[in-house]
Amino acid sequence: MKEQKLPKIGLGTWQLKPDEAKKSTIEAIKMGYRFIDTAQAYKNEQGIGDGVKEILETTNTKRNQLIIATKIFVFNLCKRRVFKTFAKSIKKLQLDYVDILYVHWPAFWFGYNHKKTLAAFSKLVDNGQVKHIGVSNFTPKLIEEAKQVCDKPIFVNQVEHHPLLRQKKLREYLNKNNIHLVAYSPLARGKVFSIPELNDIAKKYAVSEAQVSLSWIIDHGAIPIPKATSVAHIKDNYEALNLTLDKQDIEKINNINREKRLLNPPIIKPKW
Ligand SMILES: NC(=O)c1ccc[n+]([C@@H]2O[C@H](COP(=O)([O-])OP(=O)(O)OC[C@H]3O[C@@H](n4cnc5c(N)ncnc54)[C@H](OP(=O)(O)O)[C@@H]3O)[C@@H](O)[C@H]2O)c1
Repeated sequence: MKEQKLPKIGLGTWQLKPDEAKKSTIEAIKMGYRFIDTAQAYKNEQGIGDGVKEILETTNTKRNQLIIATKIFVFNLCKRRVFKTFAKSIKKLQLDYVDILYVHWPAFWFGYNHKKTLAAFSKLVDNGQVKHIGVSNFTPKLIEEAKQVCDKPIFVNQVEHHPLLRQKKLREYLNKNNIHLVAYSPLARGKVFSIPELNDIAKKYAVSEAQVSLSWIIDHGAIPIPKATSVAHIKDNYEALNLTLDKQDIEKINNINREKRLLNPPIIKPKW
């Protein structure tokens, strides 16, 4: 349910080491980012917690202005391990609550069970330790299954989304069901810099291809979470908020006739 709005852009942190994650978190929030994405699997929750703590102690930013999201790792999705490992995550993050807790992948082989896993997530919402339940890498079919057993709304689905994976059908489904789409790998892990359509558009506006991709995603209401290490990249991405693409340029990206899914891990991937 989109009963709560989310910021238009967030910071991704996969592959940032804890000290880099701390630095990027601080720089990003000082710049205006209000949404930070991490996961148990990234092994940097402590660094992000350190960064958020420093921000809360040294600036006027308040906790309730921030959206901090983490994800339960695929091996931890049985009920008992959800509770056990979430307790560790929230300790590392040094928070009383997280805004979004995701099922990282619908990994049935490793213990994802829509009834049991989501019952554990729901309990964490009841405890006040989680504000919203999120899923990641879910298809509409898996979301429908989840909705049937979960007594709380599914707030967001985080999926791969960029100009080479436009997710038209999934976007329509999520819109109809009032579920946010958080776009991961929104720069196609660097591939946006070699898409000719994006090269042309970037040249026209004298901006980076990163900004073009992010602006296109924001234009249709999805929320990109680009990962960036350097201040220059974090800033370049944030400035996508100032870029409005002409309708014809949006259409040019909508009509790209190639598709590339970058993340498709065997065993844990769903039937897309
Ligand atoms: N739920 C899931 O299963 C899942 C899967 C994948 C990712 N995610 C989330 O989504 C986030 C983003 O996805 P991603 O990390 O796969 O890839 P991405 O954000 O598409 O791309 C990151 C790459 O682009 C570079 N970059 C960033 N901003 C740039 C700029 N303005 N100009 C030039 N290069 C730039 C980064 O370099 P530097 O680091 O050197 O700046 C990095 O190499 C992740 O960090 C994670 O939080 C979630």
